[in-house]
Amino acid sequence: MAIPRSAYPAPFNTTRASHIVWTVKDLARSRAYYVDCFGFAVSGEDKSTLYLRGMEEACHHSIVLKQSSDHPACERVGLRVYTEEDLEKAKHVFERAGLPAKWVEVPHQGRTLHVSDAVGTPLEFCATQPVMPRLVVEFKAHHGASPLRLDHFQILTPEVPKACQFYCDLGFRLSEFIAPDGTDDLMFVFLQRKGNPHDIVFANGSGPRLHHAAFSVPDAQHILQACDIASAHGFGETLESGPGRHGPGHAMFTYWRDPDGHRFELFNTHYQMMDIENEPVRWNASQLRRRPWGFPPQRSWYEEASNFSGVKSNDPVQKPNPMSLERFLVEREKA
Ligand SMILES: [Fe+2]
Repeated sequence: MAIPRSAYPAPFNTTRASHIVWTVKDLARSRAYYVDCFGFAVSGEDKSTLYLRGMEEACHHSIVLKQSSDHPACERVGLRVYTEEDLEKAKHVFERAGLPAKWVEVPHQGRTLHVSDAVGTPLEFCATQPVMPRLVVEFKAHHGASPLRLDHFQILTPEVPKACQFYCDLGFRLSEFIAPDGTDDLMFVFLQRKGNPHDIVFANGSGPRLHHAAFSVPDAQHILQACDIASAHGFGETLESGPGRHGPGHAMFTYWRDPDGHRFELFNTHYQMMDIENEPVRWNASQLRRRPWGFPPQRSWYEEASNFSGVKSNDPVQKPNPMSLERFLVEREKA
């Protein structure tokens, strides 16, 4: 297929990845993990919900954790639009595409629109949240990894080309993509609105499921320090992958599995990607099998993800066979 072009001007102005809503079994345990260990700031809490933000974030929340006795899941992926007028336009765009859209009341958010995208990812758009103190220079508030802000989400879906076309039609720009050598069969697409490489990423796999939410930290040292601090808090084994260096995006990273199995990424800085003449960066699948250094992620990173509440997951026609750590070690032994 041809690589989709972005709609310009966008039919409504999505500004960025905003927040994630996860359900958890034990809110006190999650608080110990995200706040005491990793250093997220608490914007609000009650008996059943915890609202968190990073040090750079001046809006109310980028993580919402809800206590639930059900199997832990992701309820919604949150995106921001610029104005209330953009919300109205968004509702019209989704309804015109045959995708139901409804207004809902959500605590600590302005008017909120619930929709699902073309591959079934449950989204919520809002234009405002209450303003909170930005803690970026309040260094007494910094501890753990000093997480700065939510940067992007990654979703698994068996319909990557469809997701890519859908978001390009909403004005998202394709910054990078991975395809098998010699084809444009999209396996992995990195889509952005805020001017760096990602706001939302789609990768081939059973889905829709949430693979991870990613948070930036000040520098590579904070990534290493987070490993030491997590270990000191008894959470060292929740490190799933890394520290390592990405190909696409070129950031340094670690991936973590929280006490409920939800995955998040801590990574350092990204480059800018906003000029009109910037074309998507292509990666052949074979390039990614030859890492400049480090080991590939273990199999769980490729296969496990958070289900979306009430959303059925479908398998891809062709089951992925990625170069997992387990496969890498077997093949190296044979060589
Ligand atoms: Fe990521």
